[in-house]
Amino acid sequence: MLKQISDIVLEAGEIVKTGFYSNKNVEYKGEVDLVTEYDVKTEEFLKEKLQKLFPDFTIVGEESNLDKKDYPHENVIYIDPIDGTTNFVHGVPFVAVSVGVITETEGKYGVVYNPILNELYSAETGMGAYCNGSQIKVSATSSLINSLIATGFPYKKDNLPYLMQILEQVILNTRGIRRAGAASLDLCYTARGIYDLYYETRLQPWDMAGGLIIVREAGGIVTKLDGRYHDIDCDGLIASNGLVHVEFLNLLNEV
Ligand code: IPD
Ligand code: CA
Ligand code: CA
Repeated sequence: MLKQISDIVLEAGEIVKTGFYSNKNVEYKGEVDLVTEYDVKTEEFLKEKLQKLFPDFTIVGEESNLDKKDYPHENVIYIDPIDGTTNFVHGVPFVAVSVGVITETEGKYGVVYNPILNELYSAETGMGAYCNGSQIKVSATSSLINSLIATGFPYKKDNLPYLMQILEQVILNTRGIRRAGAASLDLCYTARGIYDLYYETRLQPWDMAGGLIIVREAGGIVTKLDGRYHDIDCDGLIASNGLVHVEFLNLLNEV
């Protein structure tokens, strides 16, 4: 099943890659929240192919505007056709197609593909996490001062003072911070041991679903911002190698 999902995501990546190197029509979902015809085209392609593979599943895609209260909890496929749309529009090669499949009986699958850098991340619950066929693991860094941290910022700016307070603590207490612009890839880079920890305060299920499984299968942990177990309904998360998680939670408690 993971191979079949991966093949579909690889094909979707070709649409994204074509768009990346073409002129695009950019529309606005909000003041700075962009969408292009390639987001829509890629989502339509994924929905059609994945629905055939999983006929009984509900597909929740970013561009489909399904009401959050109507999301089911199992047998659901979350799709982010282009994670990192701002990067996509500006030509920053940090973009991904992200698919997370949450099943009741057959476990879970996560596939995240960056078609520009040619990196395919995939995981199935209980089977480990892979990048281009090689197994990946989280880092072994055990202190925040030696950690490279990743984050992202929401389109809505209403909790900016809180975000800035966290940022100050992170800058003071870690090796550095990166904001690369695609949550799914931030999760995969954490899974791969490039980042030691990634946090973000407001995300949607399609940003997280694919990458969550990949981090956990790479030996990492993912929690809510308060340290409790993260399920797909919450909006903030901390994903880490597990070793620096508590130190980071303590740091957040000081904010
Ligand atoms: C966004 C990216 C970004 C994150 C935002 C997301 P989009 O997704 O993942 O890194 O900081 O919170 O909304 O809009 O490019 O699919
Ligand atoms: Ca996204
Ligand atoms: Ca998107």
